Amino acid sequence: MNPSAISTTEAVDTVFLYLFGISVVMLVGITATMIWFVVKYNRKRHPLPEATPRYHILLESSWTIIPTFIVLAMFWYGWEGYTTLRDVPAGALEVKVTGRMWFWSFEYPNGKISDELFVPVGRAIKLDIISEDVLHSFYVPAFRIKRDAVPGMTTHAWFRAPEPGSYNAFCAEYCGVGHSHMITTVEALPEGEFEEWYRQEATAEEAAEGEKLLAKHLCIGCHSLDGSKTVGPTFKGIFGRQVTVVTDGQERTVTADEEYIKRSILQPQADLVKGYPPVMPTFEGKFTDREIKEIVEFLRAKTEGKKAGLSGAELAVRKGCTGCHTTDGSYGVGPTWKELSGRQVTVVTDGRERTLTADEEYIKRSILQPHADQVKGYPSVMPATPLTDAELAALIDYIMGLR
Ligand code: CUA
Repeated sequence: MNPSAISTTEAVDTVFLYLFGISVVMLVGITATMIWFVVKYNRKRHPLPEATPRYHILLESSWTIIPTFIVLAMFWYGWEGYTTLRDVPAGALEVKVTGRMWFWSFEYPNGKISDELFVPVGRAIKLDIISEDVLHSFYVPAFRIKRDAVPGMTTHAWFRAPEPGSYNAFCAEYCGVGHSHMITTVEALPEGEFEEWYRQEATAEEAAEGEKLLAKHLCIGCHSLDGSKTVGPTFKGIFGRQVTVVTDGQERTVTADEEYIKRSILQPQADLVKGYPPVMPTFEGKFTDREIKEIVEFLRAKTEGKKAGLSGAELAVRKGCTGCHTTDGSYGVGPTWKELSGRQVTVVTDGRERTLTADEEYIKRSILQPHADQVKGYPSVMPATPLTDAELAALIDYIMGLR
């Protein structure tokens, strides 16, 4: 960390201490003068008015000139502090902050998404703040930043975490019944630990995206997922497999790693897998780097026997469900998920009250059409959440399993 680099905390605190210092001096000075005057000019001591001078140039000039400098200094310090807050240092790590009813999410340049803001200590972090619904305000008291999240525009803030630790972050703009649930943390990690977190193997979510891409681009028409032989080599167990390829007419054996898979997608004829016809078209320009990474992650997950896609518990956090539904029976904006399965629920359907048993069907309907059966006593605020069939199944499984 550059020791001369100022942080937003220092910038704001300097101004605050200056204003506070002036205020203390004023308060003490004015109060002491008043008390002194009360004593000195007490009527018992001075029963009759005394003659006083009509002008006192020195006194009048000093009470004009000195305060002028004091307030000009206030302005100057305030302006300096303000420009420090607005001017993002060069080389800042940019993180997209999204406010939704009622949780925050953070997206990093490499596509990583998290619900806590992880940052490296000492490095400037630029926040691009947006809102997907109503006004929110991203507030981190420790770094003296508070910036509105406004639908339809991007606002900015920046900060630098001086030392490792966990700092509270809040929503500071009333945004509905779940407003008080919009709490998260800024996790400041030493540079090395942050790098490790940042470069972590891509998430299961990326793998799920990769699976969709393969289906969408019909890759699985020629490459089977189950090991059966089709036009091209199967994807089953491909990651790390030894492959015999023909490169410029010469046979050689390569390991199917990330590089190899990427090359096979972009330049399918460069290393032709032995025994297969050279019929694959190039996908150069059809996939972004991120999409290729997602495909690689899917093939890696598939080879390692991991499930692509987030678990129900991860989805509950990522999709914002846990912003309103607790899993431990405590109070929330919506009904708790603890022991939901089998619970008798009183709902209002088309204005009529009725009692239902919360089974799989009921939970599914509540997710897809949250307002069809409105649970009695709760506000009608739940949004319909777009989920794939696999995600929906995983989420329902998770909810039903909560005891
Ligand atoms: Cu978001 Cu208050």
